[in-house]
Amino acid sequence: MRYALTLLIALTALFSASLTGCKDKGNDAGGGGADEIRVGVFLSLSGANADFGKTTKNGIDLAVEEINEAGGINGKKLVIIAKDTRSKPEEAQTVAKQLASQDKVAVAIGSVESGQSIKAAPVFQEAGIPMVSPSSTNPDVTKQGDRIFRVCYLDDFQGQACAAFAYKDLGFRKAALIYAQDDDYSKGLAQYFREAFKGMGGSIVEEAPFQGDVSEFKDQVSKIAAAGPDVIFAPVYYAKIGLIARDFRKQGVTVPLVGGDGWESPQLIQLAGETLEGSYFGYHYDPDDQDAKVQGYLKAYSAKFGSDPNSLSALGYDAVYAVKLAIELGGGSSADQITEGLRKIKDFKGVTGTFSIDENRNAKKSITMLKIGGSNLSKVKVIKPEDLK
Ligand code: PHE
Repeated sequence: MRYALTLLIALTALFSASLTGCKDKGNDAGGGGADEIRVGVFLSLSGANADFGKTTKNGIDLAVEEINEAGGINGKKLVIIAKDTRSKPEEAQTVAKQLASQDKVAVAIGSVESGQSIKAAPVFQEAGIPMVSPSSTNPDVTKQGDRIFRVCYLDDFQGQACAAFAYKDLGFRKAALIYAQDDDYSKGLAQYFREAFKGMGGSIVEEAPFQGDVSEFKDQVSKIAAAGPDVIFAPVYYAKIGLIARDFRKQGVTVPLVGGDGWESPQLIQLAGETLEGSYFGYHYDPDDQDAKVQGYLKAYSAKFGSDPNSLSALGYDAVYAVKLAIELGGGSSADQITEGLRKIKDFKGVTGTFSIDENRNAKKSITMLKIGGSNLSKVKVIKPEDLK
């Protein structure tokens, strides 16, 4: 039941050039010539969150390779045009404009970070191009327009699940919060945790938000230490959690930290050392699932990349197969047909679970809580949406 967090070595140059030749497509919303379907991908392939983009891109590439090797979709091959958002929301907007107007993609997949997806979504919406986020969980993402979809759970659920886990399963009553005030994901998830934890009868004994790209958390830690919490909720990304945990341990605070999906990285253990020992975070799928689809994916991924897949790669993989199904359900590969098809997705069986696209273009899925121990992650609990009702 334990699976090693192996270090992912950046495997290939992921900065795919967006030039695929000068064929005149002629069809603005068609996203490709007669024999291809252009799929725009925008992810953090460099910068602070580069692991998010690289692992997601691996999952996307694997799915595209499988689909194209099997003959494509209705005889058309998927062509990926990937852009690097450099871990910046503004850059996500810039590359979205390029994908929409220069590359004329039929559909876009991205981003991981909610802040980026929220900035890019209006560009695609405006251009009439459907966008599918594999892993952006902030509720506002799909509120940007009726062509904006996602294939992951949402932060109102994730915040509630983390609060229920801390309160009911771990038995904690006094929580403190540390989060990035200027980040949609971090701020939003802190809010959902706060509401849910208080709603259950717990108290939030201290809050220590931070702002900007800081790497020192001394002040926030002193403030929280003085309040004596028995658990700390830290909805931040992987590059920050190691630094935050280090500062807590330096000041002698040893209570467990709990985080959301954002802690995920093949480098988590390396970055956090032993400081995250005994802490917990949320994950998007259950790699122990014996389902043939999950096990087949794990095998294919390891064979192609020589490393263990993670939930980001699984979500990228599922996003591509959701687009394939949408093309089939929508009756073609124009932007309009893919949008129609995405709206029709029901009981889609992915690696990250079975889900339907609801009327708000969201998916309802389970969260898997993992515990960090030694250099391993182990599954503690799977929380389903219906468990929290
Ligand atoms: N859910 C995070 C966000 O919305 C992104 C993320 C997903 C990060 C999965 C890691 C793993 O910003």
